[in-house]
Order: sequence, then structure tokens, then C-alpha cells
Amino acid sequence: MNDIKNIGILTGGGDTPATNAIIRAAYIKAVMHGYKISGIKNGWDGLITGNVFEMDRELVSGILDRGGTILGSARVNPFKIENGVEMVKENINKFSIDAIICIGEDDTNVVMHRLGQYGLKGVGIPQTIDNDINYNDYSIGFDTAVEIATDAIDKLHTTASSHHRIMILEVMGREAGWIALYSGIAGGADLILIPEVQFDYDYIVNVIEGRRERGRDYSIIVVAEGAKPDTRKMKLEVKPLIELGSHGVIGGIGNTIAKEIERRTGYETRVTVLGHLQRGGKPTAFDRILATRMGIKSIELINENKFDYMVCFEGNNISAEPMEKVLSQYKEMDLELYEIAKIFN
Ligand code: F6P
Repeated sequence: MNDIKNIGILTGGGDTPATNAIIRAAYIKAVMHGYKISGIKNGWDGLITGNVFEMDRELVSGILDRGGTILGSARVNPFKIENGVEMVKENINKFSIDAIICIGEDDTNVVMHRLGQYGLKGVGIPQTIDNDINYNDYSIGFDTAVEIATDAIDKLHTTASSHHRIMILEVMGREAGWIALYSGIAGGADLILIPEVQFDYDYIVNVIEGRRERGRDYSIIVVAEGAKPDTRKMKLEVKPLIELGSHGVIGGIGNTIAKEIERRTGYETRVTVLGHLQRGGKPTAFDRILATRMGIKSIELINENKFDYMVCFEGNNISAEPMEKVLSQYKEMDLELYEIAKIFN
């Protein structure tokens, strides 16, 4: 056992379907062990402003299949706000929080890790549709986002062939191409463009023209919002810990590519930016199960007095790795899978 009595839960960064399933599982498991659970509203903002409340069983019932997060989310970083860390510490004392379950993408968890240096105990849960957290085959929300993007590709196929057009689907992922790669393979896209492999316009045009020669007068291209043209160099380097709050809005690459394709091939080209639809709605069964397992694991870590750890998912096993190890490196793209996808170009 340990001296933890009250556990705070927060959800930060971009929300995902199945976040509520994590909260539900962690709450139920925590209560089994006699912990009190405090809900922290809107990510780290709740600890800056003191927006904290005691959770009860009623709050987590009926939320397993509900998208979004009942705790609210925000991209707020106490290290970027004057006296932010002091305010967090004050509210930790005021609400007698002994440990935190931090649910979020890398930025939100970097804050957790850094607050550990001020004595705050916490464990992280990787939740992001971008699927870019190291030591995790799948982060929570990714599977649902892939389903949504795949469905969009299926729908684009029919209209692309009717109108003999090039259809570009721009998907999320920031600097990671996981959603593009997985949905592109699942949906049978003709080209998949990801940030990890810089693309070449000549190659895109060759694929489109090659299809035209085979009587295929339409094509589907899936592009990750962070994809970049030309040099075709790999970009797998050590990533500095990201500062939460540094997220600018990215996107628009689909339109740039569309103009170039029209200019070079004469094909009418249309762009669909899938946007926040990828983060909404009901989670898949896979995400619900993963979220449930991870929520349970977070309480087990607290029971074992293991803090500054991130819950991880590799090879269908739930494990845990030190936050520093998880957050200090890029999750490498599966380039073998990318090569498989190219077979269908
Ligand atoms: O949650 C990660 C992410 O979905 C990125 O893929 C995307 O670029 C970003 O969030 C959008 O964030 P926001 O909702 O803050 O505009």
C-alpha cells in the first residue's frame, strides 16, 4: 500500500473518443481500492484556477460510449503562465490531491513529468488520435480516428469515379502520418503522403498518369496535415520535450497539392479536410477496451507507488515506461508498412 488517499484526474490537449472510458475505468478501480477521486476540469487549467470537484459514481455511469471528455479539455501550460506552477501547487494543497492521473497527448504529459520535479506525483495515459506517443502501438482515440477517415475514403471513392476527379483527403496527425497511413491502406488510397517521408510531385503525377493509362481516370490521395514536399529525406530525429501551448494550427497542404496536380495533369481536383470530425463521436470497441485497460493500469501503478510513469501498449500488452523515456523520442514511423502501402500506388 501507499499513503495516497485522493487521486486527481485531468484530461488535456486535443480530446479523443474513449477518453470517458478511461475516466470510468480509473474511477471504478480507484473506488475499489478505497481512494477518493477528484475531477480536475479542463486539463491543467483546472489546477491553476482551482476548478476541482469530488467525483461520484453517478458521474461515470453511461459514459463508456460517449465521445469527448466529461472533465473538459484545454491546451494550457502552467509553465507558460506567470506563477502558473505556484498556483498548481497551491491548489494541490488546497484540494489535498496526493497523485494525478494525467490523460492526454505528449504535451500534456510533459507538464506532468516536469511537475514531478516539484514533488507532484503522477502517472500518464497516452490519449491522442495522432498516435505519436512512443512505446505505444496505439494511443487512445487513434483507432476511432482511423475508422472515421477510412469511411471518408470509401465515400470519396464513389464520387471520384463518377466525376473522373482526383480527390484529396487531408487528415490530422501534426508531424505524424499514422492516421493517413492506416486509413489510406484500409480505404485503398492510391497515394498516401506522410510527414515522415517528404513527397515528390513528379512521383505523384507519375502515379496519377500511370492509372490514367490503365483506364483509371480518377485517384484518391490521403495526405497528413503535416506532410511536406520534395527533398524525400527521412526525418526521424530525437524530439525535444514539447511545450504545451506551443500548438499552432497546421493544415492546408491538401489545397497546395491540389493546385499542383491540376496544373500538371489537367484533372479536376477536390479537397476534403476531415478536421475535427476525426476527434468526435462514439469510440470503436477497440478504443473502449484499450481505454478501460489503461485506466485500470493507472490505478495499479499508483497502488505500486510507481510515479512519473506512462501507461503503454505494445504487442497487446499493457505495461508502463518512465515518462522521460517515452516523451524524449519520436515514435518512429512504421516504414515497412509504408512500403507495403506503396505497392498499391
Ligand atoms: O489532438 C491532436 C490534433 O488532433 C492534431 O492532429 C491537430 O493538428 C490538432 O489536434 C488540432 O488541435 P486543435 O483542436 O487545438 O485545433
